[in-house]
Amino acid sequence: MSSAAHSIRPIAILLCLAITVNWQYGFSSTYLNTPVEQFKEYLNESLGGDISEGTYDLWWDLIQNIWFVGFFIGIFLNPVLNDRLGRRVGLLIANSAILIAAILQWLAVLLHVPILLIVGRVIASTFTAVAFQALVLYLQESPPTHIRGTASFLSEMSFSLFCAEGTMLGTDQLLGDNLTWLTASVIPICAFSVVIMFFLPETSKYLLMSGAERSVVEHSVRFFHGPDANIPVILKETEIEIAEETISSTWSSILDLIRIPHLRKTLFLSVCCLQNCVALWTFIYNSTLFLEDINIESGIAKWAATAMCVSYFVCTVLGGTFVDRWGRRKILIPFSSLHTATIALFTLFSQLQKVQDFWKYFAVATLILLAGSFGCGVGAISWFISSEMTPIKYRTLMQSASYSINTISVVISTFVVLPFYFWIGTYCFLILYCIPSVLALIYISRNLPETRGREIHDIVNELKG
Ligand SMILES: *[C@@H]1O[C@H](CO)[C@@H](O)[C@H](O)[C@H]1NC(C)=O
Repeated sequence: MSSAAHSIRPIAILLCLAITVNWQYGFSSTYLNTPVEQFKEYLNESLGGDISEGTYDLWWDLIQNIWFVGFFIGIFLNPVLNDRLGRRVGLLIANSAILIAAILQWLAVLLHVPILLIVGRVIASTFTAVAFQALVLYLQESPPTHIRGTASFLSEMSFSLFCAEGTMLGTDQLLGDNLTWLTASVIPICAFSVVIMFFLPETSKYLLMSGAERSVVEHSVRFFHGPDANIPVILKETEIEIAEETISSTWSSILDLIRIPHLRKTLFLSVCCLQNCVALWTFIYNSTLFLEDINIESGIAKWAATAMCVSYFVCTVLGGTFVDRWGRRKILIPFSSLHTATIALFTLFSQLQKVQDFWKYFAVATLILLAGSFGCGVGAISWFISSEMTPIKYRTLMQSASYSINTISVVISTFVVLPFYFWIGTYCFLILYCIPSVLALIYISRNLPETRGREIHDIVNELKG
């Protein structure tokens, strides 16, 4: 079989898996943003028909922000589910819980019981964190090494696509006026994501680590790599990786992340990479506000929000195509720098607009470039780089540690950014996003090893040296 055919099979299987996880994730992250008025009416009707603005604000904040609470809890279930029980069982449990959560949210709208919406969202977000981490592990552990980067981009690609879908589906022209159909729209895909897990084998690397029978391991390799895969060659590298690390218990290994120099370095690198992912959501969610404040007509501002989502998606496809040819450093460092620069430029243009109005159009263009530069590699690479630098036995712990630190950073900046913005204007972006990103980038460019096309044990050895 040709090398292209060897690549197409795992990519197709993993794309299918990425879509089942991220359809729901992207949809749940965005579907509340467009039909705000319809949800207000729904809450008013469900809670007796005469609620005050204050009560509404309270419910609405709760419904929106409960997502982060659940996601934070879910990050810590990663070592328990995806490591103890395996990636496959972890994903099966997570997808089943997400299906139940989707049905609860639909019933909440159908029966006018808003509390079910909150319960549904907290269950969904908890298990979305589990499913997302299991997906990254699948994307890292099952494809052949030479396409590991492209495979890992599949998550970001499908996520950005379904964020755009969630935003558009919520408009009045589509399902925004019919919340029952809107919340029902993800149920079939959630059901499919449970069914697909009965056909997908565990990753061969996890099976090897957990001491499964040889025939089971070989079945997994053949499933992802194709029937004529060179099994001994593929498994040899994993065996080296596993032999080099010993691990005692989960609690002492959490301390290992800080105690062992190369793990500490990986944790720090991963947190620095993820720091560059903090700003994007502020700009996607609030772009309309920022643009209307610099005198952009509301029609153009709404259009710009959609253009940002599209630019984000198109650029993840481009980034995924080049990541295994150019390497991680050559994509991550320039595009993270560009991304940080666009934030600074947006600040500059929004200030210049006060002097001359036409600068506002540069600000719009900058926002689209901001989302595009993020899509090219900042997001995707940052989510998988920790897995690529960590031996399998510490992998889920490393994910949990770096994702949870990142979530704290996201929550803090989300709470702080708008009050700060109303106080000092767009200068707040320089303080909240640009300065931390520049510091992180300096550390990354000095310490990040190039991981393209290399086996994990080889990368880990470089970090040790
Ligand atoms: C809820 O509906 C009542 C009656 O239509 C209205 O007076 C009230 O302002 C609404 N509350 C909110 C928060 O919109």
